[in-house]
Amino acid sequence: MYTKTILSSAVLAGLAAAAPAPQVSGYTGANAPYASVKPSPLTTLAKTFGPDSAVSAIHTAAPNGTMSGAAAPLRSSVLTGATSHGPFSGTATTTGAVMASSTVGLTIPALPPNPTATYYNTNGKLTKPEPAPYTPAGGLGTNGTLPRYMVESDFDYESITLGLYQEWIELDLFNNGLATFSEADFLAAGLTAEDRELIRFMAQQESGHATLLSNMLGATAPPQCTYNYPYSTVREFVDFNQILTRWGESGVWGFINHLDSREVGQLLAQSIATEARQQMIFRQMSGLFPMPVWFETGIPQSWAWTFLAPYISSCPANTTRLAWQNFPALHVVNQANINRFSPNDTADWERVGNRTSDPAISTIPQNQSCINLNVTGQGCGPAISRNKSEPLTFPGKQIRLTWDAPGQAVGPNNSYVTSVSPVAGAPAFVAWVAQLNLTYTPLIKTGPNSGYTYQPASEVYVGDPAANDTMFIALTDTNLFLTPFNLSMINPHVLALSVFQAG
Ligand SMILES: *[C@@H]1O[C@H](CO)[C@@H](O)[C@H](O)[C@H]1NC(C)=O
Ligand SMILES: *[C@@H]1O[C@H](CO)[C@@H](O)[C@H](O)[C@H]1NC(C)=O
Ligand SMILES: *[C@@H]1O[C@H](CO)[C@@H](O)[C@H](O)[C@H]1NC(C)=O
Ligand SMILES: *[C@@H]1O[C@H](CO)[C@@H](O)[C@H](O)[C@H]1NC(C)=O
Ligand SMILES: *[C@@H]1O[C@H](CO)[C@@H](O)[C@H](O)[C@H]1NC(C)=O
Ligand SMILES: *[C@@H]1O[C@H](CO)[C@@H](O)[C@H](O)[C@H]1NC(C)=O
Ligand SMILES: *[C@@H]1O[C@H](CO)[C@@H](O)[C@H](O)[C@H]1NC(C)=O
Ligand SMILES: *[C@@H]1O[C@H](CO)[C@@H](O)[C@H](O)[C@H]1NC(C)=O
Ligand SMILES: *[C@@H]1O[C@H](CO)[C@@H](O)[C@H](O)[C@H]1NC(C)=O
Ligand SMILES: *[C@@H]1O[C@H](CO)[C@@H](O)[C@H](O)[C@H]1NC(C)=O
Ligand SMILES: *[C@@H]1O[C@H](CO)[C@@H](O)[C@H](O)[C@H]1NC(C)=O
Ligand SMILES: *[C@@H]1O[C@H](CO)[C@@H](O)[C@H](O)[C@H]1NC(C)=O
Repeated sequence: MYTKTILSSAVLAGLAAAAPAPQVSGYTGANAPYASVKPSPLTTLAKTFGPDSAVSAIHTAAPNGTMSGAAAPLRSSVLTGATSHGPFSGTATTTGAVMASSTVGLTIPALPPNPTATYYNTNGKLTKPEPAPYTPAGGLGTNGTLPRYMVESDFDYESITLGLYQEWIELDLFNNGLATFSEADFLAAGLTAEDRELIRFMAQQESGHATLLSNMLGATAPPQCTYNYPYSTVREFVDFNQILTRWGESGVWGFINHLDSREVGQLLAQSIATEARQQMIFRQMSGLFPMPVWFETGIPQSWAWTFLAPYISSCPANTTRLAWQNFPALHVVNQANINRFSPNDTADWERVGNRTSDPAISTIPQNQSCINLNVTGQGCGPAISRNKSEPLTFPGKQIRLTWDAPGQAVGPNNSYVTSVSPVAGAPAFVAWVAQLNLTYTPLIKTGPNSGYTYQPASEVYVGDPAANDTMFIALTDTNLFLTPFNLSMINPHVLALSVFQAG
């Protein structure tokens, strides 16, 4: 111990002379006894690998079949059930969202806080007897009741069913990219065999998620559908994945704490944590800054369904249908192209298609592309992190928009119809949903279905601009004040929805 201290001090003294301290401006007191090992020059790298040492072990294998402790089977193969892809051409046998036999009102009236929402601890001491040692009173599902890992309400059922539709597309989608593009295609986009293995593994995670969600629903859990993807390059594939997993993740953050079943919420949280990692990995594969925000945002279920539905071409007969709304599409005419080192130079409609989550066109001229640029601050090939010198967008940027009228057929078998609430008036605001915040900017209309606004500069906390990352914008008639736990009250005021590529 004594010797180590002496040695560390000696090394530190040497470093203090050599290193340009401090490396974090404004951070004082950086001298630390543990930061004492300097990387040694590489001289003797391993060239042979094995045999390893034999360590103490017994033969053991996972229990299987009817053996006790055997794992439950997956609901699907780890590949995919769908045998074809592309648009649906046919006539739906049924149309519209699932509806109850009656509907109480057009909006949910606002109420005062719950009368029991009064707990406030003034002195840091426990206020009630503890039910057991080291067990502060309170919490839900903490009083010894037997957990039941099943949905407990229509809200739960429809939310988890939506989640399952999402898990199924991810299972097919991640496999689809691997199956469609060659090894050389991936290498040209900077993705190696080891990266493809990661994508393959992420696909397999989805077969587990789909099985979990199916089990929490029961026999009516929807099966896998057939999909219609927008990409034609590896780059567009990973861009689409980072967008799709963004609303997959945010869709769950939006409802998870509203679920009646805490048990379902528990397991769902443990799967969405994995989805969040996938989202970040696809950002890294797209050469984006992995997480440019301090908080991930949540969105209502109808938003996630609006974004997902256009990519499902058809579902098997008798597939359980959803109760959520499909909003009309909002188009960002000058949505930044992540493949440009100069996003300011993005032309109008530089997306591969007009569905709101379609990726940026990757086949731009090579001398405008950042994909193969090995220049710090300019390159956007796959990396742990990228520092774009020119941001994709910035506060004050004029954002030009067009939007579709309601009444369009979308989703599986074109059997859902986009709609807006009868209470919604004329479009007047753009709602920016990012991190913990909902920020409105005024819409300046330039035509019946077009207009513009300016990106807001609001911050979540000082130093964290709210609008960043792959985020969401909505066209609304009013600027209702809402926070993450009551955001879904925005729905009757939403006229159109889009994903916004802010960072
Ligand atoms: C169970 O695993 C053993 C090897 O551990 C294997 O020989 C056997 O075929 C497996 N049975 C089933 C039903 O998968
Ligand atoms: C246990 O807690 C649940 C809520 O988590 C509550 O519904 C139930 O009544 C409680 N049971 C008892 C015996 O207190
Ligand atoms: C359709 O699904 C219901 C349950 O949702 C089931 O009872 C019925 O047998 C199914 N019909 C067909 C033709 O698969
Ligand atoms: C978004 O985050 C990235 C990475 O931190 C940063 O470079 C960029 O300036 C941010 N954008 C805004 C509008 O703050
Ligand atoms: C959707 O299309 C598929 C394939 O054509 C068909 O089997 C299924 O019955 C259709 N479902 C609806 C709701 O129309
Ligand atoms: C992009 O446009 C903004 C606004 O006109 C400008 O301030 C910024 O300098 C431009 N970026 C570059 C890299 O030229
Ligand atoms: C998207 O819509 C705009 C306006 O209608 C059109 O100019 C553009 O070509 C469309 N993009 C694609 C890929 O179809
Ligand atoms: C990029 O290349 C094209 C020809 O392929 C050329 O016309 C254009 O001037 C080049 N742009 C720049 C900025 O070098
Ligand atoms: C990128 O540039 C660095 C420094 O110039 C160099 O060491 C590295 O090999 C380059 N990588 C590629 C993929 O060209
Ligand atoms: C990365 O971006 C930050 C914020 O824009 C900047 O301060 C820093 O100098 C950049 N670092 C590199 C290596 O480009
Ligand atoms: C953003 O959200 C934070 C956290 O809820 C809140 O304190 C802040 O007031 C919000 N900022 C704006 C501009 O709405
Ligand atoms: C949403 O919740 C916030 C409190 O976080 C409250 O101030 C606001 O009035 C609520 N909005 C509606 C429409 O109830």
